[in-house]
Amino acid sequence: MSRTLDLTATPADRISRLRSVWRAAWDQGHVDALDDLLSPAYVRRRGPASAAQGRDQFKESIRAMRDAFPDLHTEIEDIVEDGDRVAIRWRTTGRHTGAFLGVPPTGKPVEVSGATFARFDGASVTEEWVTFDSRQLLEALGIITTGHQAAVDADLVRGVHRKFITGVTVVTTDDDGTPRGLAVNAFSSISLDPPMVLVCVQRSSSTHPVLHRASHLGISILSAGQLDVAKVFASKGDDKFARVGWTPGDFGSPLIDGSCAQLEVEIGERLEAGSHTVFTGRVVSARHDDLAPLVYSGGGFFDISHTAPLPW
Ligand SMILES: Cc1cc2nc3c(=O)[nH]c(=O)nc-3n(C[C@H](O)[C@H](O)[C@H](O)COP(=O)(O)O)c2cc1C
Repeated sequence: MSRTLDLTATPADRISRLRSVWRAAWDQGHVDALDDLLSPAYVRRRGPASAAQGRDQFKESIRAMRDAFPDLHTEIEDIVEDGDRVAIRWRTTGRHTGAFLGVPPTGKPVEVSGATFARFDGASVTEEWVTFDSRQLLEALGIITTGHQAAVDADLVRGVHRKFITGVTVVTTDDDGTPRGLAVNAFSSISLDPPMVLVCVQRSSSTHPVLHRASHLGISILSAGQLDVAKVFASKGDDKFARVGWTPGDFGSPLIDGSCAQLEVEIGERLEAGSHTVFTGRVVSARHDDLAPLVYSGGGFFDISHTAPLPW
């Protein structure tokens, strides 16, 4: 099709081309068919948490999707036009028979629905905004559960958690020059290569919204002599940092003086889970020393240096 013809394409031409290119790319894997629809400067956006994709990256993501779901099928359920903009409501189904997002094949059928808002410049799409419920996909693959029915009594679960011994951390961030933070024992290593960790923060915490807009967070593992610091950060108040010594880390996160280990983390995913948000991220700075850590168990605090090591 010549460029002159493209530019005079009627809205009906655009829609029928969009349908056939989607079918070729998504259902048949002919991703180069997208070159007939998407301009070379095409940008695909998926909200602030995801990086924008260019045309080649988009093609690559369709290939990866089709490797994991070879029978992928997308049904266009509705198309609405408004001048140079087109809104498409779609539903995609497929069976998970190849690895996806690190999840080995489950054989499960997956269904995801969403909407794409495309902006045409002449005959080509220059920009798309895509929105879909990624929880449908993650839940189908068993990565998250969103079922709301409590299967087990809450007190029973609380009793189980009291049997699990943890340290105590102070999770901090810099909010435009103001240090903010709270005590957190829901801290875990995720991976050593690359070095990644997670912390879980309740949505009702006043630090929570600040962590949502931050790029980095600090984690200070409290030492056995810092019970008073744990109490400060387990409370609410604007003056927490006036009551303890702290020093900004290499990436600006406030780190608690006298803590036995410290990390700074570049925040990656923010996963909503029940009453909490799980913040994952890559470790960008780390240090530790010989001080013993403060221990939290069964609702009480302990000094680990009074415990006897078991031979094994
Ligand atoms: C030992 C201990 C561990 C805690 N762990 C967590 C945790 O993992 N996540 C969390 O959101 N709150 C945790 N809290 C509670 C918060 O520290 C507490 O609600 C704090 O007042 C929140 O402060 P903010 O509202 O100023 O952010 C913990 C408290 C204590 C004493």
